[in-house]
Amino acid sequence: MNTEWRIQNPSGVHRVIVTKQLVGERWVQILTNADCRVDVCISSEVLSRQEIIDALGQNCAGAIGQLTEAWNREVLTAFKSVGGRVYSNVAVGYNNVEVAAATSLGIFVGNTPGVLTDATAELTLALTFAVARRIAEADAYVRTGKFRQWESSLFLGDMLRRKTLGIIGAGRIGSAFARMMVEGHRMNLVYYNRHRNEPLEDSITAFNEFLTHIGEKPIACRLAVSIEELLTMSDIVSLHPPLNQSTHHLIDAQRLALMKKNAILINVSRGPVIDEVALVNHCRNVPEFRAGLDVYEQEPKLAPGLSELPNIVLLPHIGSATRWTREAMSTIAAQNVAAILSGDPAWHGEDMRPFLEEKAPKAAPSIVNAGELGL
Ligand code: DGY
Repeated sequence: MNTEWRIQNPSGVHRVIVTKQLVGERWVQILTNADCRVDVCISSEVLSRQEIIDALGQNCAGAIGQLTEAWNREVLTAFKSVGGRVYSNVAVGYNNVEVAAATSLGIFVGNTPGVLTDATAELTLALTFAVARRIAEADAYVRTGKFRQWESSLFLGDMLRRKTLGIIGAGRIGSAFARMMVEGHRMNLVYYNRHRNEPLEDSITAFNEFLTHIGEKPIACRLAVSIEELLTMSDIVSLHPPLNQSTHHLIDAQRLALMKKNAILINVSRGPVIDEVALVNHCRNVPEFRAGLDVYEQEPKLAPGLSELPNIVLLPHIGSATRWTREAMSTIAAQNVAAILSGDPAWHGEDMRPFLEEKAPKAAPSIVNAGELGL
């Protein structure tokens, strides 16, 4: 493919490649203020490994890329050989980057946490209700002229109030979604996580005080002893773990068989967390079981049969797709690169909001291998 590039601030000292157009304008200003020449790929296709290597040219100090690209040892080695010092994903997840290889080459790797928590939690909520209330099927029914009259059994779905929500991976997004469902819909919570999530449990304890005060039954909340226990107890299971070797196919045929027959499975994390072929078989054999997916195992390809199943709602990986969030992600990614190229330190706080202010701190907001590289 012939890729097209737009060059901004051609006389900038540090050359930075950006493999796709980003949202908003602020990210370009951040880079140009840090004396970067910015080469932005304006072609819409995902760049292949070779196209990225070609784009690095003879001299490239920084790169901003996408979760759809493989920043593996081969690419990172090529990057290093032309002066590469820092790469940032425009995403919180970075399973597309071989961080160990980057660290061994002395390349800093950035990501964009914090700013997409609420947007992704809201999308998880939207998808959960779309599945529970059969929104996609009902929409198609109206559009295709099938709606003739009100009927008492038309598109019967499930109410979620006071049911049990199972969260696998109670990090930032999982916890934000859990709180929305607990506080908004009085769902009981069971979660599976490496550690007890005290802030989440404390917020539920405080909410229970409020419920008791207004004469309502408190919410039950507990850390599951195993994934199996969570799967058997939950009416809705929502997946929020990072993708790594231990979470690949975390939900497989055996675990699907443990779930309630009419349970709902939601995935907004990474596709390979579910064995998609097993999910297709399960949804075929158990029509009362439903699922909502924003991510796919071989994204953007779908497992054979997936798109024919009426009991699954499918979205095109839009968890963080609000304008504000995508601008904020672009801003954080640009600051990661600009700060490292300017010799600034890494920020070790969790709160990314200061970086969205006009006068942002002089630091790299989120460098995942800062510790290993002594920053
Ligand atoms: C991420 O950031 O990892 C999401 O998948 C895209 O927003």
